[in-house]
Amino acid sequence: MGLFIGSIDQGTTSSRFLIFDDKGGLVTYHQEEYPQHYPEPGWVEHDPNDILNSVYLCIKVTIEQFEKLGHSVKDIKAVGITNQRETTLAWDRLTGKALYNAIVWCDTRTHDLVHRLNKNSSLGADALKETCGLPITTYFSALKLKWMLENVPAVKEAHDKDNLLFGTVDSWLIWNLTGGIENGLHLTDVTNASRTMFMDIKTLQWSDKSLKFFEIKRSVLPKIVSSSEVYGKITIDSPLKGILIAGNLGDQQAALVGQKCFKRGEAKNTYGTGCFMLFNTGHVPVISKSGLLTTVGYKFGNQETVYALEGSIAVAGAAVKWVRDNLGIINETAEINVLAEKVEDTGGVYFVTAFSGLFAPYWRDDARGCIVGITQYTNKNHIARATLEASCFQTRAIIDAMNSESGTPLASLKVDGGLSNSDICMQIQADVLGIEVDRPAMRETTALGAAIAAGFAVGVWKSLDELKEVNAHDRKLFVPKASVENREARYKEWQKAVERSFDWV
Ligand code: G3P
Repeated sequence: MGLFIGSIDQGTTSSRFLIFDDKGGLVTYHQEEYPQHYPEPGWVEHDPNDILNSVYLCIKVTIEQFEKLGHSVKDIKAVGITNQRETTLAWDRLTGKALYNAIVWCDTRTHDLVHRLNKNSSLGADALKETCGLPITTYFSALKLKWMLENVPAVKEAHDKDNLLFGTVDSWLIWNLTGGIENGLHLTDVTNASRTMFMDIKTLQWSDKSLKFFEIKRSVLPKIVSSSEVYGKITIDSPLKGILIAGNLGDQQAALVGQKCFKRGEAKNTYGTGCFMLFNTGHVPVISKSGLLTTVGYKFGNQETVYALEGSIAVAGAAVKWVRDNLGIINETAEINVLAEKVEDTGGVYFVTAFSGLFAPYWRDDARGCIVGITQYTNKNHIARATLEASCFQTRAIIDAMNSESGTPLASLKVDGGLSNSDICMQIQADVLGIEVDRPAMRETTALGAAIAAGFAVGVWKSLDELKEVNAHDRKLFVPKASVENREARYKEWQKAVERSFDWV
């Protein structure tokens, strides 16, 4: 007996299905990694069916575990969805088949297209910034869809015949879970829509100006809905058949909710495949002058929209995976901590992990990864430590930009995501920032955020006050130990290293 909420967390390298109780406690979950495809340098693709199948398998295994614990599926009141954002899918509304692999958010194949489009306006990369809050870069869905239209004949044909459906991963999942070609719901929430470049950030409607700019037909786009409302029921053959889907947020926005950053001025940083800091700016979309993104934080039903400024880092955990898989100096990702702990510092080594160019606040798609400062003394321990430091320094650049925009320096940073499990990385982060870093005991905050959104829609929670105790206990605080001189001197050297990464393409 009890009330439970399910949460589908479809991430860049793995999918998960988790079940939370009505206190926000994690009951059980299952996670599945799925294949990454790198057909050319800079290209990153997912097979849309792998995305679906990994989610279906996670649901099946989690429900088996849930029932073994003595619970019943009928006590799951609703399901929330959270997903890797910007990743772009195109499928045929008549056959239900994907017309190309999903182009993943960190894929840089649209580099030339970006430069072509930037020439179309005197504002260059900022041509649509006032409309959608985003610069024209390889990151966002509009570029990826346009690339498909120009390079994949099947996508172009379906577009011309009005048979094309576009979606980010949330749309693909919901359309399939609610029946696909049999009346599947084609929708997306305001947070995911805010990452496409097609949505007007103020009206939360698709923008004619943007559609014209990218030459995309309105008919391909999903309906925009709020992040928390009952969208429909799962109708396919699944252990969750009949259960309501009632929450939908991009993963970083879900983490903002899961970390309960409900007040203006609160921020969280999630260290996943990439690393994404979101800073709640209240009910106003602040257009950044320092390379940050304006994004929707969340919108619960008819309540006022909450906006955020975002600092996106393309590579965080992905760099640790690279050290494991491509460099081969560790066998398990957690071993990076063991190596990094063997040395006091990096011995002057800096690793700019610009594998997909550099995102915020630099926005340099001509940047590529570089390791600088190597001497005869350098060993793998220094490289391991420099890998962890890379996310921390990029986070510092983002916090500096946020502080300059908000005028009130951030006093504490809430963290979550894979790399936040590393004590040494979080201590380095506190030292590099000079502020305290605050880590919750339960780090599945992304999934929790989607569960909270779904729970609100079906009345499991009625006010944010009821969430006060959720994940509030046993938090760990990392307090800065480095001197101000040391911190600033090392950050200056990092900035020099960043400049070395520019102009490679
Ligand atoms: O914008 C991309 C982001 O949503 C991916 O998140 O957790 O897979 O690094 P993650």
